[in-house]
Amino acid sequence: MLKNGKYNILIIDDDTQSLTTFKTGFQEEFNLFIGLSASEGFTLLKQNEIHLVVTDQRMAGLSGIEFLKKVKKYFPKTLRILLTGYSDLEVVVKAINECNIHRYMTKPWKKLQMKNVLDHALEFYQLREDKDSLLEQLKKVNQQLEKENTYLTEEINQDQDFQKIITSSEKFKATLKILEQVATTNTTVLIQGESGTGKELLAREIHSLSKKSEKPLVKVNCAALPKNLIESELFGHEKGAFTGASQQRIGRFEVADEGTIFLDEIGELPIDLQAKLLRILQDGEFERLGGNTTIKSNARIIAATNIDLEKAIKEDTFREDLYFRLNVFPITSPPLRERKEDIPILIEHFLKKHQANIGRKISTVPAKTLKIMMSYNYPGNIRELENLTERFMITSLGEQLEIMDWNPTFNLKYQKGNDEFLTMKKMEIRHITEACIRSDWKIFGEGGAAEKLEINAKTLSSRMSKLNIKKENSFL
Ligand SMILES: Nc1ncnc2c1ncn2[C@@H]1O[C@H](COP(=O)(O)OP(=O)(O)OP(=O)(O)O)[C@@H](O)[C@H]1O
Ligand SMILES: [Mg+2]
Repeated sequence: MLKNGKYNILIIDDDTQSLTTFKTGFQEEFNLFIGLSASEGFTLLKQNEIHLVVTDQRMAGLSGIEFLKKVKKYFPKTLRILLTGYSDLEVVVKAINECNIHRYMTKPWKKLQMKNVLDHALEFYQLREDKDSLLEQLKKVNQQLEKENTYLTEEINQDQDFQKIITSSEKFKATLKILEQVATTNTTVLIQGESGTGKELLAREIHSLSKKSEKPLVKVNCAALPKNLIESELFGHEKGAFTGASQQRIGRFEVADEGTIFLDEIGELPIDLQAKLLRILQDGEFERLGGNTTIKSNARIIAATNIDLEKAIKEDTFREDLYFRLNVFPITSPPLRERKEDIPILIEHFLKKHQANIGRKISTVPAKTLKIMMSYNYPGNIRELENLTERFMITSLGEQLEIMDWNPTFNLKYQKGNDEFLTMKKMEIRHITEACIRSDWKIFGEGGAAEKLEINAKTLSSRMSKLNIKKENSFL
């Protein structure tokens, strides 16, 4: 930092006359430090940040060259100028070679001439400082980027240890065939489906079958990030873009650049960010938060949602234009209750998957267990089936998968909102549903639900349509 905006110059000479000339000539423009010998010069150099030293060659004690050699060694940033007598060519050569001096001046010097030399030297000093500080900044930014890269790569790698899709359902297999076809294009894909149906698995499958499979798949969960962080996570920010933005940070769109970006729970993206996303979809362009350089992204976009986006559009929480841009190629991940034939192979798969962490092998699934597990509708889909299987593995005593005290229709523990206090209406729905399941959805006649409930079958039937109780939504 410059004091009073002036550079610090040290002048060393044992001739007071010469010192006075220097002083009167330049004391206005520079902070001058004056010494009569090399040793006084060192004291001043130690105490002050000297930008430039001008020394006479012939002095008592150390000569100018000896002095500058030491200055070069101990104060390498300080620029060095030597004043010599007219014919000291040998000295000049030595000074250049050994002391790496910036300039030499012959005595007596003229003020204007000296001024030019000083200005030139200090300009050089400043440029060198600026360059050093830019390099320093660049180094910091590089370090930051490296950190970010490591963090993101770790995250990506963790996630990439993914599962093969298991299915025996013809319907789902047909979906997978279409998925294979779209995977090789760069088309935006929107995956819709209930929670736990394997949307993320499908997204990873698309990426792994695509031309971008060698590049990263970067996931952003729009529901898991705090609202105020999503924008910077997606698009990055410049230093100082907001309080706490102490460094520049690149966003996930930039990391994904040539790869794929998976926008999970897209329905949760705040409406004000939807416009920015729309622009990427349309033009492949965006700016970092607080920045004005336009950045291009070639990332392939896969989005997923478990909410009904058309409904969200009606409720003004999702932009219709964004929906159309995302919905170029829609894929629906079917709920498990529509592909119950998958339940046995999925159970088998989960038995193998969890045997290591449970520390026990369970190899058979008795028909009774399977029947009960197949009768349930799994509102939490495959994730719920996996959790249940794991739980039964823990509670099974032998090599067979046993169900202890679990009743698929009445075990509220496995249903959503299990700790809520039930209203009469909900209670009624549950109880009627239970009766229906116990009678295999036979309502009328012997062994039917009406008989179990000891009410008139027609009354039951109209009650059921009023309460919207149907086999297909019996998990409610
Ligand atoms: N067909 C399948 N074969 C094997 N495992 C599956 C299959 N589908 C889903 N899974 C497993 O079920 C779990 C849930 O899947 P995933 O996370 O992909 O669902 P999701 O639809 O993204 O759920 P959410 O909406 O809750 O985020 C994961 O552990 C996944 O590995
Ligand atoms: Mg998911």
